[in-house]
Amino acid sequence: MWRYPKVLAHRGGGTLAPENTLAALERGMKAGFRAIEYDVMLARDGVPVVMHDPFLGRTVPGSGHVFDYDALELAAMDAGGWFGRAFEGEPVPLFVEFAQFCKAHGVWMNIELKPAPGYETETGTTVARIAAAMFADELAAGQLERAPLLSSFSQPALAAAREAAPQLPRAYLMSELPPDWERRARAVDAVAIHANHRHLTPRQAHEVKAAGFGLFCYTVNELARARELLGWGVDAFCTDRIDLIGPEFT
Ligand code: G3P
Ligand code: MG
Repeated sequence: MWRYPKVLAHRGGGTLAPENTLAALERGMKAGFRAIEYDVMLARDGVPVVMHDPFLGRTVPGSGHVFDYDALELAAMDAGGWFGRAFEGEPVPLFVEFAQFCKAHGVWMNIELKPAPGYETETGTTVARIAAAMFADELAAGQLERAPLLSSFSQPALAAAREAAPQLPRAYLMSELPPDWERRARAVDAVAIHANHRHLTPRQAHEVKAAGFGLFCYTVNELARARELLGWGVDAFCTDRIDLIGPEFT
């Protein structure tokens, strides 16, 4: 069952602002979005930061891996200049600050665990513990629709998240659904499957829903395709085109 919003702004603000930044989040909110997907990984000191790539060079100038730097060093880097001069100096957000901002503004979060290789367990544990502590009241009150949904391509990260905070819902990200998708999802007690829409078939969509899971697709940027997927029974999706596909899309 899917208890969350239907359309999420991918990486905070889609393609209208530098991904995974506070500016992206503000841009998404300006477009009316109150639900986002974003990526989280650990810095060298074990502090989670909001970032997609495990290395510098594309969205942040410099070289090396994210885990070569402490979180505050990353937070002093420019994650916006690559996108446009207006965003120069936009920092790499610390996960805690970013999540607190979302919570304070009523923005629902799909937090994607993006562990660097070798840090799967640590990433799942750390992020789940922080998110569960931040939403302790909501979880205790059974308000699961307000708590974040942790998703990952990494089975060990999801398993670690379950161990650290079993009450926090998890979703299994799968680019292409393998034949044993259901066994894998049940092994980490996932509530939803997050699939790449390019590989999903109507039959698979039906099977996922019939098995009782939520079904979410990434990353849907065309109106006709969004309608088609919803017609297959897909519950929700994220989009880069927040200018084209609004939060109330049907
Ligand atoms: O969580 C859905 C989607 O964000 C997964 O792919 O590479 O955009 O993080 P990616
Ligand atoms: Mg992502």
